[in-house]
Amino acid sequence: MDALLTTDLPFPVFRRGKVRDVYDLGERLLIVATDRISAFDCVMPQGIPDKGRILTAVANYWFEATRDLIPNHLIASQVEEYPAELQPHAELLRGRSILVKKTLPLPVECVVRGFLAGSGWKEYQATRSVCGIAMPPNLPMASSLPQPIFTPATKAEEGHDENISFDRFQGLLGGDMAQRLRSMSLSLYHRGSEMAAQRGILLADTKFEFGVDDEGQLLLIDEALTPDSSRYWPAEGWRPGIQPPSLDKQFLRDYLERLPDWNKQPPAPDLPPNIIEGVRSRYLDLASRFGVGF
Ligand SMILES: Nc1ncnc2c1ncn2[C@@H]1O[C@H](COP(=O)(O)OP(=O)(O)OP(=O)(O)O)[C@@H](O)[C@H]1O
Ligand SMILES: [Mg+2]
Repeated sequence: MDALLTTDLPFPVFRRGKVRDVYDLGERLLIVATDRISAFDCVMPQGIPDKGRILTAVANYWFEATRDLIPNHLIASQVEEYPAELQPHAELLRGRSILVKKTLPLPVECVVRGFLAGSGWKEYQATRSVCGIAMPPNLPMASSLPQPIFTPATKAEEGHDENISFDRFQGLLGGDMAQRLRSMSLSLYHRGSEMAAQRGILLADTKFEFGVDDEGQLLLIDEALTPDSSRYWPAEGWRPGIQPPSLDKQFLRDYLERLPDWNKQPPAPDLPPNIIEGVRSRYLDLASRFGVGF
């Protein structure tokens, strides 16, 4: 089984991200999700077969399920509805691409956390706060927070995103926009975690991106509530105090953390077949729990 690592379509490249190749079609963008996977902001040398299709299907599920809360960038996801110039590439594009409205992306990542995980857990142990927000004492690993918190970050062009305080977030975007993004992000997290809970899944945390279109309308862009942008835990494997099994990238991060000699700088190490298969089966498990086919 092959993974699609890169695309080379005959259209101007808008941006090649760590995972998606984005082509500029004028007022619209063609976003192609490859099978690349990144961890610690490094793209791995091997891809995860079908990952681009799984991510696209999961994101589209959530664009539909959150449309009443906020409009999103999605215009079409069925290749048959794409413009004629894309039809020669139908086979490559099917299931792993979307046609979207081009927006001006806001230069921030809107993170919401409902549980103590990852860098939040590390920070809590050192300071009893998460992204500068004070927390009650004696919370164990993976415990739920008293309420979900909004912990924005800047979107770094190069290198790692940096967590910022809400004050700095307001300084970057203006007070009105900052309040709007915070309350929208919390509403989206609420929707995501309620729907996940019905499927026996905990949404530990997630990240949203927003953009403004040329009519000045705020849109949800990029991807939403995917296992690349979120931490998902099977509810049956969760209890405070232990690291829960995950349905996301954590399995890959754990493998990389165990390597004695990789310092999280490129080039990333080769991934053995069992790790590739382990990530793939977790992403597939998540999609099937939501009833998302691809
Ligand atoms: N509707 C949109 N309008 C403009 N840009 C968009 C839109 N949707 C997504 N993007 C941008 O397309 C890119 C998608 O690629 P990908 O997610 O692989 O990038 P990435 O490596 O995460 O990089 P970044 O740090 O820029 O998000 C992102 O930079 C995202 O901000
Ligand atoms: Mg991204």
